Amino acid sequence: DWTMAHFRTAEIAKIRSQVGGARVISGLSGGVDSAVASVLIHEAIGNQLTCIFVDHGLLRQNEAEEVVRLFREHYNIPLVHVDARERFLAALAGKSDPEAKRKIIGGLFIDVFEEEARKLGGADFLAQGTLYPDVIESVSFTGGPSVTIKSHHNVGGLPERMNLKLVEPLRELFKDEVRALGRELGLPETFVGRHPFPGPGLAIRIPGEITEEKLNILRQADAIYLDEIRKAGLYDEIWQAFAVLLPVRTVGVMGDARTYEYVCALRAVTSTDGMTADYYPFEHAFLGATATRIINEVRGINRVVYDITSKPPGTIEWE
Ligand code: XMP
Repeated sequence: DWTMAHFRTAEIAKIRSQVGGARVISGLSGGVDSAVASVLIHEAIGNQLTCIFVDHGLLRQNEAEEVVRLFREHYNIPLVHVDARERFLAALAGKSDPEAKRKIIGGLFIDVFEEEARKLGGADFLAQGTLYPDVIESVSFTGGPSVTIKSHHNVGGLPERMNLKLVEPLRELFKDEVRALGRELGLPETFVGRHPFPGPGLAIRIPGEITEEKLNILRQADAIYLDEIRKAGLYDEIWQAFAVLLPVRTVGVMGDARTYEYVCALRAVTSTDGMTADYYPFEHAFLGATATRIINEVRGINRVVYDITSKPPGTIEWE
């Protein structure tokens, strides 16, 4: 892609002249934007960049390992992997209000990120994967159900608190251009083409209280669902697809035994910007086969339903 090859060269020069010999920290989320921004900045300034990946335990199956492997092994980029899973679970214990969950996660994320940045001796710049739509909309993130796609790492307030200047190499790009740049930088297709994933992660896909047990159940169901979608060749037609674990148990039968387990809801939508969305019209055979696999393979789920709500009036996420 000529355009992106050109952008890459030009942007590397810009980053070098902006940053000089200073130190940069970057928050990795597992999302495309922060990854592309970080790889580009690393290409420009090498080990003056350190990435911090805060694992809040609300990621999908294998996601944390994949991010760490990609950055450390594939790109050899200095990466601090912070295992903050217990802290987030503890902070979320007993909380079921969607806005309260978002606030707790956002606040703790900033605290952990700041602690780690201080351990590194601070930095002069903070890298952010801000895109053009974020710049023009300039809608401040209030923590409420978002109407725009927000970057996973809303480290709001941190630049001021730590006296950091911003490096935002994606500020002129739209999402599809960021993906093209990611390909240009050699990021794997499975990574670049990923569906958006919300910052609060699986916490907003478990209505009600979050427990480790529920997170484990949801991760398994979600992985099976995405696996079926990929195998059916539908992944790229869909804007977002995910499983939701409902805080409801229903009665079922397995063999001769009565079961009393959770209900899993499947969601898939098409959209161009996340502002409006249509539910994805899967074939019934696909839904039936996926439901059977989830119920057979995941202990703790005995019923699967499909969400046929479009946005509006629904939102994409359930919380
Ligand atoms: P809704 O559910 O509002 O979602 O229709 C629209 C898009 O935004 C994502 N989303 C979030 N992203 N923090 C984020 O970083 C959040 O709190 C949040 N809430 C929703 C959602 O996944 C969809 O892409």
